[in-house]
Amino acid sequence: MAIQQRGRTADGAALGRAIHLRYERPVVFADDYALDLVSASARFACRSPFLYRLLLRRGVAPFRSFVASTLSAMRYIEERLSDAVHEGFTQYLVLGAGLDSFALRRLDLCESLRVFEVDHPVTQALKRKRIERFLGTPPAHLEFVPADFECESLDEALAASRFDPTARTLFSWIASIPYIEESSVHETFRSISRHATEGSEIVFNFGSWGTQTGPGGSGGVNEHLQRATRSRGEPLKSAFDPEALLKAVCEQGYQRVELLDGNAQTQRYFADRSDGLHVVPGSQLAHVRRADS
Ligand SMILES: C[S@@+](CC[C@H](N)C(=O)[O-])C[C@H]1O[C@@H](n2cnc3c(N)ncnc32)[C@H](O)[C@@H]1O
Repeated sequence: MAIQQRGRTADGAALGRAIHLRYERPVVFADDYALDLVSASARFACRSPFLYRLLLRRGVAPFRSFVASTLSAMRYIEERLSDAVHEGFTQYLVLGAGLDSFALRRLDLCESLRVFEVDHPVTQALKRKRIERFLGTPPAHLEFVPADFECESLDEALAASRFDPTARTLFSWIASIPYIEESSVHETFRSISRHATEGSEIVFNFGSWGTQTGPGGSGGVNEHLQRATRSRGEPLKSAFDPEALLKAVCEQGYQRVELLDGNAQTQRYFADRSDGLHVVPGSQLAHVRRADS
């Protein structure tokens, strides 16, 4: 893996959110920090409607349904967090955070939440640099926890942080699982379990492409995405049968709250729009709650 390429899928995801806010209506998820966090060249092109039409629009078209899955997942999580802070959650832990801007943007919720961002150290260094450029020091409620899930355990990474395993925590893992080998995904869920007190929750999304037949099964990962992620040094490595993954996670002490396939997410968040924006059918959004142990 070319180290300098790391972070480019995070850049692509944030650019997708910036384009959504600037050029698509109705807005499903308003990430008004995404534009500040992307690379200078992407920001320049996205700000200008002329350059957007000339340089970006056609290039990003094949990825819109994947960006839509991120918009839908982030909206779901932030809706849940708005209630969770009133129910006593005091920590939000974001795995594979990329250029997620929650900790910069949702200062209303961060009054009562400590935010931990766990990500590959190279992506995280890039993000720090970008935050410092437009904001100065990162906010005090945000702690960066570097970890490469393919060769380090989440346990070790969290042990070196101020994460409190006795505090109710919402864990999120969005648009990142497909980049991790299946065995490391399972190991990371086991590690989350060791750090999740009763009542904690996980919201995560993953691909089911190629694991099922029928609608929502192979429906999904396209050649463009495979090629683009490979050329960015972060190839897609895993996809799961949704029921099998949910069962494996729930066996570690969770109850299912919700499982939404791409079509259900489209119905919930993208109905009644004229631009055809929809969530890729094979993108699954899952929500589980830690039960009595
Ligand atoms: C497409 S980005 C998504 C980022 C963010 N969740 C979002 O939706 O904007 C994929 C993320 O997975 C992270 N990632 C990929 N491989 C990883 C690994 N081996 N260990 C830790 N993080 C990894 C990348 O650093 C990146 O932040």
